[in-house]
Amino acid sequence: MCGIVGILGKGPVAGDLIEALKRLEYRGYDSAGVATLENGRIVRVRASGKLKNLEEKLATEKLSGAAGIGHTRWATHGKPTESNAHPHASDKVVVVHNGIIENFRELREELQGRGHRFASETDSEVVAHLVSDGLKAGATPQDAVAATLKRLKGAFALAFLFEGENDLLIGARRGSPLAVGWGEEGVYLGSDALALAPFANSIAYLDEGDWVVLRRESSEFHNADDAIVERRRQPLQAGSFLVEKGNFRHFMAKEIFEQPEVIGRTLAHYLDLAEGVVRLPFDFSFDPARLSRVTISACGTAFYAGLVARYWLERFARLSVDIDIASEFRYRDPPLPDDGLMIVVSQSGETADTLAALRYAKQHNQHTLAIVNVDTSTIARESDIVARTLAGPEIGVASTKAFTCQLAVFACLALALGRARGVLTREQERELVAELIATPGQMAEELNREAQIEPVARDVARATSSLYLGRGPSFPLAMEGALKLKELSYIHAEGYAAGELKHGPIALIDYAMPVIVLAPPDASLEKTVSNLQEVAARGGHLILIGPPSARTAAAAELAGYVEVAENVSGPFAALVYAAPVQLLAYHVAVFMGKDVDQPRNLAKSVTVE
Ligand code: F6R
Repeated sequence: MCGIVGILGKGPVAGDLIEALKRLEYRGYDSAGVATLENGRIVRVRASGKLKNLEEKLATEKLSGAAGIGHTRWATHGKPTESNAHPHASDKVVVVHNGIIENFRELREELQGRGHRFASETDSEVVAHLVSDGLKAGATPQDAVAATLKRLKGAFALAFLFEGENDLLIGARRGSPLAVGWGEEGVYLGSDALALAPFANSIAYLDEGDWVVLRRESSEFHNADDAIVERRRQPLQAGSFLVEKGNFRHFMAKEIFEQPEVIGRTLAHYLDLAEGVVRLPFDFSFDPARLSRVTISACGTAFYAGLVARYWLERFARLSVDIDIASEFRYRDPPLPDDGLMIVVSQSGETADTLAALRYAKQHNQHTLAIVNVDTSTIARESDIVARTLAGPEIGVASTKAFTCQLAVFACLALALGRARGVLTREQERELVAELIATPGQMAEELNREAQIEPVARDVARATSSLYLGRGPSFPLAMEGALKLKELSYIHAEGYAAGELKHGPIALIDYAMPVIVLAPPDASLEKTVSNLQEVAARGGHLILIGPPSARTAAAAELAGYVEVAENVSGPFAALVYAAPVQLLAYHVAVFMGKDVDQPRNLAKSVTVE
């Protein structure tokens, strides 16, 4: 994780470094720092905590250099103190790093043996010392970096500046993303296009193993074997990267309320709205009729999207689906069948475990399809087929609109596969597409009822632990609801299949623990209501999210009720029920005064294992 940036500008760059770091803060916010060359000398300013602490420091410790690098950190090695904050320096070089240097202990001992003294507990500092060793031995900055890269194990994106070298910025990438941007005012390095969007009008991505030597008037890309290579430069449209909160208090609220629009946009990309049928923007690179199995792998919220989709792929396309969290998947060493399809799901497209799952699938001859929000990401670039979610940039660290757009893409995919495999008739396809097209409007209506969530949220905010229950697609949604609540409010929460309650968790029931039941009017409603009554019979603290008919059927005393319209039913109801589930977690956190957009210890793009 962590965000890195580098600039060779025409004037002072500290302000632009901060501006770029603001756009990268979603990647980590434990500490931040910048370094610039002041009359050729390296000067660093660093601060623990959020970027605003660094900004405050820079108001008094002013920097005027025209070459600079910056970093926002998600701590892996060493506490988020100022001395562990990047940039890290040694003699004539200063570096920022995103990723993990796995062999840093050996390297550190070796360097200490040669008299190097370390000022931080980080893995990253060894990189600066290795380069400075090379420089001392007479190597050029380029050669010193190239030699250093060969000694590093692990994942990294790096940016270097060198004392006395006002027109030199070197970047390197292995495992973590890095892009070069060119603009009117300079040349830039950044962890993603979002960081560079305000400054650059064209951009190129480093490939795996690449390193790049940037000067204001030239750029030279090298591959892992140090050969000079060309990398495709493409236009960057700043407009597509607007990241403003508008009238909302938090990015998360804005992103929750954007959902009807972005789900609609995503559906329009995959459906022929006039004809009311599915029309994918890509051809399958395989014969759907011959598919033997679908495997899905992802992390966190994206994994829950996959779990919901399993119901759809099984039901509409009669495909058997294996699904696992990406950090476990490859370590099971699962056998993968001939004619198997691997679907990976990722908002960022950079999640290290998901990328590794994709690579595992490729090594095992699977067809690969990635559902991603960032179409320039590594996962997108390495997949046979890219199925984009058109959610736009998601800034709130907790995923909301990316999740529902992932569901929208999955739904279209399941219907397309169902048709192509001869499971669904044209008529059935049209009926299901009509239900899908109704979801953005239904979601808008549910969002309009936000006010009913607030009293329920105040109640849940008093709890220290909670349970979410659901059946069918509402089961993974229950897990997603629990994840949202715990990451935003730090209240312990678990999502359970409602039928599993009596196999253990029912022992937890008491009035202090809210049990939030998701009860859309589907085939399993009756059974969900029975489970609800089991909680009521034990004096549980029940909160129901469902239609009035479920409330009537429950005939139990409720501590809270969130009404969802009766017509939100059918196979895609989970997509709409996501709205009250997200709003509940959001309002609990707001009520408790938590940092909704940047919850503690988290980062949005998880590029370490
Ligand atoms: C939770 C959340 C995370 C991500 C997970 C995967 O709100 O956002 O659980 O879903 O880290 O990230 P991506 O989708 O970028 O691969």
